[in-house]
Amino acid sequence: MVKKWSERFDEPTSEIVKRYSASVGFDYRLAMVDIQGSMAHAQMLSKQKIISKKDLSNIAKGLKQIQKEIDRGQFKWSIDDEDVHLNIEKRLIKLIGEAGKKLHTGRSRNDQVATDMRLWLRGMIDQHLTQLQKLQKNIVQLAEQHVDTIMPGFTHLQVAQPVSFAHHLMAYFEMLQRDKSRLLDCRKRTNQLPLGAAALAGTSYPIDRKYVAKLLKFDGVMENSMDAVSDRDFLIEYNASAAMLMTHLSRFSEELILWSTDFFDFVEISDGFCTGSSIMPQKKNPDIPELVRGKVGRVNGHLVALLTLMKAQPLSYNKDNQEDKEPIFDVADTLLDTLDIFAEMIAKLTVKSENMELAALKGYATATDLADYLVKKGLPFRDAHGVVAKAVKFAIKKSVDLSDLTLIELQKFSKLIEHDVFQSLTLQGSLNSRKHLGGTSPTAVKKAIQKAKLKL
Ligand code: ARG
Repeated sequence: MVKKWSERFDEPTSEIVKRYSASVGFDYRLAMVDIQGSMAHAQMLSKQKIISKKDLSNIAKGLKQIQKEIDRGQFKWSIDDEDVHLNIEKRLIKLIGEAGKKLHTGRSRNDQVATDMRLWLRGMIDQHLTQLQKLQKNIVQLAEQHVDTIMPGFTHLQVAQPVSFAHHLMAYFEMLQRDKSRLLDCRKRTNQLPLGAAALAGTSYPIDRKYVAKLLKFDGVMENSMDAVSDRDFLIEYNASAAMLMTHLSRFSEELILWSTDFFDFVEISDGFCTGSSIMPQKKNPDIPELVRGKVGRVNGHLVALLTLMKAQPLSYNKDNQEDKEPIFDVADTLLDTLDIFAEMIAKLTVKSENMELAALKGYATATDLADYLVKKGLPFRDAHGVVAKAVKFAIKKSVDLSDLTLIELQKFSKLIEHDVFQSLTLQGSLNSRKHLGGTSPTAVKKAIQKAKLKL
């Protein structure tokens, strides 16, 4: 049977229009926060004597029943009722009658959906913060075992200077720490109550918005009703923070992929995160880090989608905003899974310390140390740079490391070089000398790890 949207209309809503405009297919996910918001709204209406205590207790009973039905998968969602809000309201009226019709007093779906999205996002951010904490813990735990593991540090993906593997890992700890603070910051602006804004201009009922904010644990009340129903900047901020976080994990993934090739052979990713090939029996492919790297694409794409969604909307609410849900749900789902899987992958990573050290020995990683040695003996840095460049060229021709050259050979490049040079040319010597705050020496890295643990 074809139905009109309301008595205002003459023509019925066609099937295609119904399908095109319905959001219940995805916004049913807001059901629990929608009920939570409705409950707080009803409590306020009763406290303000806008509805009776009896109405409130009926509404509470009805909403509890609906919650049960949803939990048990018995609730019947229908696109005839467009979205999560109308589906629940219709069922409430069916269950409790007259009192159900009063719940929407002083409220609009516009402030309702804005409230739902904020409640939902707040919960998501809290979950991510816990997940990030776990991932950071696993990174720190691995770092603790590898303070003395030496690997080549890279710039331009060319061997640059030796670093401790722990130091490399702790770089990611720092990135994730900033990601956490971005999310926390976004949470502050998310956690403001729109309810009470009604459709756009507020309501003529004597409502108490601060009371609703308190019930729903919002930090405050949105100060302008038109802003409250229309802006989705909090979702955009969240998406941007998610894109940054995923970018960090993508860089980490890229390294795991490189490190697990036969050419690097620095790590082995545990079997559970890899797959084989249907044709090449020898293969073990790092699917999970590849997927993390790949999924950044969708998160970045959603950010552009949301910015574009917002950019030309006149105040206040427009139905365009219904399009915020699918992208943002996908961002959250991507983050939820990625953070869990990444934490587990790090916990199960096998590190091939000897191979790392061998690679560091091969790449003339201590050349800067030789230059610094000469500077300490009185040569200006630019001249020292030139001397060492010549020595490296000579060593490359001989196919040996700088530390393999004899003192006589080295002295051909500078008379300032003495026997104590070999301390600077070892990987350990190089590492140990970088003992300032933020450096890669084992003592500095141990301190960084201690500090990190205090933050967790
Ligand atoms: N489903 C809508 C959304 O997601 C709810 C708000 C509808 N408001 C309206 N005036 N049609 O934005």
